[in-house]
Amino acid sequence: MTQEQLIYTFDQFKHASEYVSFKELASGHINDTFLIETKAEPFFIVQRINHSVFKDVPGLLSNKVSISRHIQNKLSYLSDEELHRQVLRFVQAKNGDYYHKDKHGDYWNVMIYIKDSVTHDVVSNAKIAYEGGKLSGNFLNLTSDFDTSNLTEVIPKFHDMPYRFWQFEQALKVASEDRKSKARVYLLKVAELKEEMHIIQKLKESGQLKLRVTHNDTKISNVLFDKHDNGLCVIDTDTVMPGVVHYDFGDAIRTICNTAAEDETNLDLVHFNIEFYRAYKKGFLEKVASTLSPLEINTLPIGAKTMIFIMALRFLTDYLNNDIYYKTKYPEHNLDRAKNQFKLIDSMVHQMDVIKTKNVYSMD
Ligand SMILES: Nc1ncnc2c1ncn2[C@@H]1O[C@H](COP(=O)(O)OP(=O)(O)O)[C@@H](O)[C@H]1O
Ligand SMILES: [Mg+2]
Repeated sequence: MTQEQLIYTFDQFKHASEYVSFKELASGHINDTFLIETKAEPFFIVQRINHSVFKDVPGLLSNKVSISRHIQNKLSYLSDEELHRQVLRFVQAKNGDYYHKDKHGDYWNVMIYIKDSVTHDVVSNAKIAYEGGKLSGNFLNLTSDFDTSNLTEVIPKFHDMPYRFWQFEQALKVASEDRKSKARVYLLKVAELKEEMHIIQKLKESGQLKLRVTHNDTKISNVLFDKHDNGLCVIDTDTVMPGVVHYDFGDAIRTICNTAAEDETNLDLVHFNIEFYRAYKKGFLEKVASTLSPLEINTLPIGAKTMIFIMALRFLTDYLNNDIYYKTKYPEHNLDRAKNQFKLIDSMVHQMDVIKTKNVYSMD
């Protein structure tokens, strides 16, 4: 990406400011993200959306813009300064859309840069988990009255358990004997957990769990913090879709409460961090409990287990498929990732009784 190309792209938007310089922000993993500094603030974020991951990018951007607008309206009692630190703002393109499609077929969008913000790749203390929980809970709270039929399903069947099992069973049919035998213990675990891991799906299908706006990528790096580790704003709303509360709670817990990296091979290092779980859940419920049913609240722990399981299943499926989806660095990489997630489930289950009985509002 040359400076000229970036300026050209930036100038397709109604930014009303004078370009000074740009730098690429390396923290995201999906999109290409650039910070544009201008003569006077605000600065801007220019983002190229990865359209090999997302097929309907205009639909995706429409989700992002309409959710942001909805939240802005809900928070209109705030001062402009506060509001602009708490919700993403998108800049309209000169053609009236909120995106620009370039001659290579790539889609771009522009946001206001939230200044003096940082992201965390890992959670280093309970305060960060608590603040992350508050922001994610608040996002669900503020969007709980949004009509989900207005959202594009950007990745169909993303967390659909029968679909993930179907993919797994297809993979089993074509898997080599070698890979099947190396995965044997985990194939048994999948069978053992199958029924329990459909509980959330069944409650969703029967209408007992409310279909609501969910973010679907609630890892901690998708939250902006100020320099005192206070949460500011939920970002990266690319995967906003209709879903159940467990998707967001569970995926956050899966990523935040693992004491090791997702592909750590020394399973002795993989533990479920109960302190971060409580801190996250406390923040989350402080913000969203008033819009949740007792069933939604009571099933949060199994929701978290289900979200860890679905990743284990997807890694295992890809291993059986000879690694066609996730990038791998060595032949057993996907199997190691699956083992890691299963270990996390074991560690969580061991502590589950504690999780269930502790007062959700207490930090101890
Ligand atoms: N509005 C914003 N203000 C400040 N920083 C931002 C903003 N949007 C994105 N960023 C920064 O850019 C990074 C990548 O953005 P993100 O939307 O999460 O893309 P990806 O999908 O690639 O993860 C973030 O981790 C954050 O550091
Ligand atoms: Mg991100």
